[in-house]
Amino acid sequence: MQKRNDFIIKLIENAAIQNGMRVLDVGCATGEVTQIVANKVGDQGEVIGVDMNQDMLHMAEENNQFDNVTYIQGDVYNLPKDIGEFDAIIGRRVLMYLPDAYKALNALKVHLKAHGIFCFQENDAINGGVGADNLPMHQKAIQYVWNTVASEGGDIHIGQKLYELFQKIGATHVTFTAEAVMQTSDDNDLQWLIDIMTPRMKTHQVVENDFTSEAFNHVLTQEAAENHSAFIRDMAFGIYGRIQ
Ligand SMILES: C[S@@+](CC[C@H](N)C(=O)[O-])C[C@H]1O[C@@H](n2cnc3c(N)ncnc32)[C@H](O)[C@@H]1O
Repeated sequence: MQKRNDFIIKLIENAAIQNGMRVLDVGCATGEVTQIVANKVGDQGEVIGVDMNQDMLHMAEENNQFDNVTYIQGDVYNLPKDIGEFDAIIGRRVLMYLPDAYKALNALKVHLKAHGIFCFQENDAINGGVGADNLPMHQKAIQYVWNTVASEGGDIHIGQKLYELFQKIGATHVTFTAEAVMQTSDDNDLQWLIDIMTPRMKTHQVVENDFTSEAFNHVLTQEAAENHSAFIRDMAFGIYGRIQ
Protein backbone atom coordinates (compact mmCIF):
# COMPACT_ATOMS: atom_id res chain seq x y z
CA MET A 1 0.00 0.00 0.00
CA GLN A 2 1.24 3.50 -0.77
CA LYS A 3 2.27 5.17 2.44
CA ARG A 4 -0.49 7.57 3.48
CA ASN A 5 1.80 10.60 3.83
CA ASP A 6 3.85 10.17 0.64
CA PHE A 7 1.66 12.45 -1.46
CA ILE A 8 1.52 15.37 1.00
CA ILE A 9 5.26 15.13 1.73
CA LYS A 10 6.02 15.47 -1.98
CA LEU A 11 3.46 18.27 -2.37
CA ILE A 12 4.94 20.28 0.52
CA GLU A 13 8.40 19.81 -0.93
CA ASN A 14 7.35 20.90 -4.43
CA ALA A 15 5.39 23.87 -3.07
CA ALA A 16 8.68 25.16 -1.62
CA ILE A 17 7.52 25.17 1.99
CA GLN A 18 10.85 25.41 3.69
CA ASN A 19 13.10 26.20 6.59
CA GLY A 20 12.12 29.27 8.64
CA MET A 21 8.57 29.66 7.32
CA ARG A 22 5.50 30.41 9.41
CA VAL A 23 2.81 27.94 8.29
CA LEU A 24 -0.86 27.39 9.15
CA ASP A 25 -2.29 23.85 8.85
CA VAL A 26 -6.09 24.16 8.55
CA GLY A 27 -8.29 21.26 9.64
CA CYS A 28 -5.23 19.77 11.30
CA ALA A 29 -7.15 17.11 13.29
CA THR A 30 -4.58 14.96 15.14
CA GLY A 31 -1.67 16.94 13.71
CA GLU A 32 -0.20 14.36 11.35
CA VAL A 33 0.46 16.91 8.60
CA THR A 34 1.28 19.65 11.12
CA GLN A 35 4.23 17.59 12.35
CA ILE A 36 5.44 16.87 8.82
CA VAL A 37 5.48 20.63 8.21
CA ALA A 38 7.14 21.33 11.57
CA ASN A 39 9.97 19.07 10.53
CA LYS A 40 10.26 20.94 7.25
CA VAL A 41 10.30 24.49 8.64
CA GLY A 42 12.74 23.58 11.42
CA ASP A 43 13.48 25.43 14.65
CA GLN A 44 13.57 28.79 12.87
CA GLY A 45 10.02 28.27 11.60
CA GLU A 46 6.66 27.94 13.27
CA VAL A 47 3.51 25.92 12.58
CA ILE A 48 0.02 26.53 13.89
CA GLY A 49 -2.55 23.77 13.54
CA VAL A 50 -6.17 24.88 13.63
CA ASP A 51 -9.25 22.71 13.91
CA MET A 52 -12.77 23.21 15.21
CA ASN A 53 -12.80 19.83 16.96
CA GLN A 54 -11.36 20.08 20.46
CA ASP A 55 -11.08 16.27 20.87
CA MET A 56 -8.86 16.10 17.79
CA LEU A 57 -6.75 18.96 19.14
CA HIS A 58 -6.23 17.15 22.45
CA MET A 59 -4.88 14.17 20.52
CA ALA A 60 -2.70 16.50 18.44
CA GLU A 61 -1.26 18.02 21.60
CA GLU A 62 -0.58 14.59 23.07
CA ASN A 63 1.21 13.53 19.85
CA ASN A 64 3.21 16.73 19.56
CA GLN A 65 6.98 16.33 19.54
CA PHE A 66 7.88 19.86 18.43
CA ASP A 67 8.49 23.12 20.32
CA ASN A 68 7.58 25.20 17.28
CA VAL A 69 4.02 23.84 16.97
CA THR A 70 0.88 25.33 18.54
CA TYR A 71 -2.66 24.03 18.21
CA ILE A 72 -5.66 26.29 18.46
CA GLN A 73 -9.38 25.77 18.15
CA GLY A 74 -10.91 27.81 15.35
CA ASP A 75 -13.16 27.89 12.33
CA VAL A 76 -11.47 28.25 8.94
CA TYR A 77 -14.20 30.70 7.87
CA ASN A 78 -13.45 32.99 10.77
CA LEU A 79 -10.00 32.67 12.29
CA PRO A 80 -8.99 34.89 15.19
CA LYS A 81 -7.47 38.13 13.83
CA ASP A 82 -4.49 37.90 16.18
CA ILE A 83 -3.40 34.64 14.57
CA GLY A 84 -1.27 36.83 12.30
CA GLU A 85 0.07 36.26 8.80
CA PHE A 86 1.67 33.18 7.29
CA ASP A 87 4.16 32.35 4.56
CA ALA A 88 2.00 29.37 3.68
CA ILE A 89 -1.42 27.93 4.50
CA ILE A 90 -1.86 24.24 3.91
CA GLY A 91 -4.53 21.61 4.43
CA ARG A 92 -5.14 17.96 3.75
CA ARG A 93 -8.64 16.56 3.28
CA VAL A 94 -10.32 19.63 4.71
CA LEU A 95 -11.88 21.58 1.82
CA MET A 96 -13.76 18.40 0.89
CA TYR A 97 -15.66 18.60 4.20
CA LEU A 98 -16.58 22.28 3.97
CA PRO A 99 -19.96 23.45 2.66
CA ASP A 100 -18.29 26.36 0.83
CA ALA A 101 -14.61 25.85 -0.05
CA TYR A 102 -14.50 29.09 -2.08
CA LYS A 103 -15.69 31.13 0.89
CA ALA A 104 -13.17 29.38 3.13
CA LEU A 105 -10.23 30.09 0.79
CA ASN A 106 -11.27 33.73 0.52
CA ALA A 107 -11.44 34.00 4.32
CA LEU A 108 -8.03 32.33 4.66
CA LYS A 109 -6.41 34.60 2.05
CA VAL A 110 -6.30 37.52 4.46
CA HIS A 111 -3.96 35.52 6.70
CA LEU A 112 -1.37 35.05 3.95
CA LYS A 113 1.62 37.35 3.53
CA ALA A 114 2.06 38.91 0.07
CA HIS A 115 3.00 36.15 -2.43
CA GLY A 116 2.16 33.57 0.24
CA ILE A 117 1.56 29.94 -0.64
CA PHE A 118 -1.74 28.06 -0.57
CA CYS A 119 -1.20 24.28 -0.68
CA PHE A 120 -3.91 21.62 -0.41
CA GLN A 121 -4.37 17.89 -0.83
CA GLU A 122 -7.93 16.73 -1.30
CA ASN A 123 -9.15 13.24 -2.15
CA ASP A 124 -11.80 12.56 -4.77
CA ALA A 125 -14.05 9.54 -5.26
CA ILE A 126 -13.36 9.52 -9.01
CA ASN A 127 -12.20 6.12 -10.27
CA GLY A 128 -12.76 4.57 -6.83
CA GLY A 129 -12.97 0.79 -7.29
CA VAL A 130 -11.44 0.69 -10.78
CA GLY A 131 -9.57 -2.59 -11.14
CA ALA A 132 -11.69 -4.38 -8.55
CA ASP A 133 -14.09 -6.13 -10.95
CA ASN A 134 -13.57 -9.41 -9.16
CA LEU A 135 -13.85 -7.78 -5.73
CA PRO A 136 -17.51 -6.68 -5.54
CA MET A 137 -17.51 -6.42 -1.74
CA HIS A 138 -14.37 -4.26 -1.80
CA GLN A 139 -16.17 -2.09 -4.36
CA LYS A 140 -19.12 -1.91 -1.99
CA ALA A 141 -16.84 -0.87 0.89
CA ILE A 142 -15.46 2.00 -1.21
CA GLN A 143 -19.01 3.11 -2.01
CA TYR A 144 -20.03 2.95 1.67
CA VAL A 145 -17.13 5.22 2.61
CA TRP A 146 -17.80 7.82 -0.07
CA ASN A 147 -21.59 7.71 0.32
CA THR A 148 -21.11 8.49 4.01
CA VAL A 149 -18.87 11.48 3.31
CA ALA A 150 -21.39 12.74 0.72
CA SER A 151 -24.28 12.27 3.18
CA GLU A 152 -22.39 14.38 5.69
CA GLY A 153 -22.29 17.24 3.20
CA GLY A 154 -18.74 16.61 1.96
CA ASP A 155 -17.88 17.30 -1.67
CA ILE A 156 -16.55 13.93 -2.86
CA HIS A 157 -15.47 15.47 -6.17
CA ILE A 158 -13.68 18.54 -4.86
CA GLY A 159 -10.35 17.28 -6.20
CA GLN A 160 -11.39 17.94 -9.79
CA LYS A 161 -12.59 21.44 -8.86
CA LEU A 162 -9.42 22.67 -7.17
CA TYR A 163 -7.86 24.29 -10.22
CA GLU A 164 -11.02 26.27 -10.94
CA LEU A 165 -11.25 27.28 -7.27
CA PHE A 166 -7.66 28.52 -7.30
CA GLN A 167 -8.39 30.56 -10.44
CA LYS A 168 -11.46 32.07 -8.81
CA ILE A 169 -9.51 33.24 -5.76
CA GLY A 170 -6.84 34.78 -7.98
CA ALA A 171 -3.97 32.38 -7.31
CA THR A 172 -0.93 32.59 -9.59
CA HIS A 173 1.94 30.15 -10.33
CA VAL A 174 -0.53 27.32 -9.84
CA THR A 175 0.62 23.71 -10.04
CA PHE A 176 -2.02 21.00 -10.09
CA THR A 177 -1.36 17.30 -9.76
CA ALA A 178 -3.20 14.03 -9.14
CA GLU A 179 -2.32 10.46 -8.35
CA ALA A 180 -4.31 7.26 -8.08
CA VAL A 181 -4.30 5.85 -4.57
CA MET A 182 -3.53 2.22 -5.39
CA GLN A 183 -4.41 -0.57 -2.97
CA THR A 184 -4.65 -4.34 -3.27
CA SER A 185 -6.90 -7.04 -1.89
CA ASP A 186 -3.89 -8.13 0.17
CA ASP A 187 -3.05 -4.69 1.55
CA ASN A 188 -5.65 -1.95 1.95
CA ASP A 189 -7.29 0.19 4.61
CA LEU A 190 -10.91 -0.67 3.83
CA GLN A 191 -11.53 -2.88 6.88
CA TRP A 192 -10.08 -0.20 9.14
CA LEU A 193 -12.24 2.46 7.48
CA ILE A 194 -15.40 0.35 7.70
CA ASP A 195 -14.65 -0.29 11.36
CA ILE A 196 -14.25 3.36 12.35
CA MET A 197 -16.99 4.67 10.03
CA THR A 198 -19.79 2.21 10.88
CA PRO A 199 -21.52 4.55 13.37
CA ARG A 200 -21.49 7.37 10.77
CA MET A 201 -22.66 4.97 8.05
CA LYS A 202 -25.64 4.02 10.25
CA THR A 203 -26.45 7.64 11.17
CA HIS A 204 -26.80 8.45 7.47
CA GLN A 205 -28.54 5.16 6.59
CA VAL A 206 -25.76 4.21 4.19
CA VAL A 207 -26.09 0.73 5.75
CA GLU A 208 -28.96 -0.97 7.60
CA ASN A 209 -29.13 -0.77 11.39
CA ASP A 210 -28.23 -4.45 11.78
CA PHE A 211 -24.96 -3.97 9.82
CA THR A 212 -21.86 -5.01 11.73
CA SER A 213 -18.31 -4.23 10.68
CA GLU A 214 -17.18 -7.63 12.02
CA ALA A 215 -19.46 -9.56 9.65
CA PHE A 216 -18.76 -7.27 6.68
CA ASN A 217 -15.01 -7.32 7.21
CA HIS A 218 -15.10 -11.11 7.46
CA VAL A 219 -16.60 -11.19 3.95
CA LEU A 220 -13.86 -8.80 2.74
CA THR A 221 -11.23 -11.16 4.18
CA GLN A 222 -12.80 -14.13 2.39
CA GLU A 223 -13.05 -12.25 -0.91
CA ALA A 224 -9.42 -11.12 -0.63
CA ALA A 225 -8.24 -14.68 0.02
CA GLU A 226 -9.74 -15.78 -3.31
CA ASN A 227 -8.76 -12.81 -5.51
CA HIS A 228 -5.44 -11.07 -5.57
CA SER A 229 -6.09 -7.80 -7.38
CA ALA A 230 -4.99 -4.19 -7.32
CA PHE A 231 -7.53 -1.38 -7.44
CA ILE A 232 -7.83 2.40 -7.20
CA ARG A 233 -9.19 3.33 -3.76
CA ASP A 234 -9.57 6.97 -4.78
CA MET A 235 -7.58 9.81 -6.32
CA ALA A 236 -5.40 12.25 -4.41
CA PHE A 237 -5.38 15.75 -5.94
CA GLY A 238 -2.75 18.28 -4.94
CA ILE A 239 -2.57 21.96 -5.71
CA TYR A 240 -0.38 24.88 -4.75
CA GLY A 241 -0.06 28.45 -5.89
CA ARG A 242 0.72 31.97 -4.78
CA ILE A 243 -1.62 34.73 -3.63
CA GLN A 244 -0.56 38.31 -4.43
C1 LIG B 1 -10.43 14.45 7.50
S1 LIG B 1 -9.96 15.55 8.76
C2 LIG B 1 -8.40 16.08 8.14
C3 LIG B 1 -7.29 15.63 8.98
C4 LIG B 1 -5.90 16.18 8.76
N1 LIG B 1 -5.81 17.36 7.94
C5 LIG B 1 -5.04 15.09 8.17
O1 LIG B 1 -4.88 15.06 6.96
O2 LIG B 1 -4.60 14.23 8.93
C6 LIG B 1 -10.88 17.03 8.50
C7 LIG B 1 -10.75 17.99 9.68
O3 LIG B 1 -11.30 19.25 9.31
C8 LIG B 1 -11.89 19.81 10.47
N2 LIG B 1 -12.83 20.85 10.07
C9 LIG B 1 -13.97 20.70 9.36
N3 LIG B 1 -14.58 21.88 9.19
C10 LIG B 1 -13.80 22.82 9.80
C11 LIG B 1 -13.90 24.23 9.97
N4 LIG B 1 -14.92 24.91 9.47
N5 LIG B 1 -12.91 24.85 10.65
C12 LIG B 1 -11.88 24.16 11.18
N6 LIG B 1 -11.73 22.82 11.05
C13 LIG B 1 -12.69 22.16 10.36
C14 LIG B 1 -12.54 18.63 11.15
O4 LIG B 1 -12.79 18.88 12.52
C15 LIG B 1 -11.52 17.51 10.92
O5 LIG B 1 -10.63 17.38 12.00
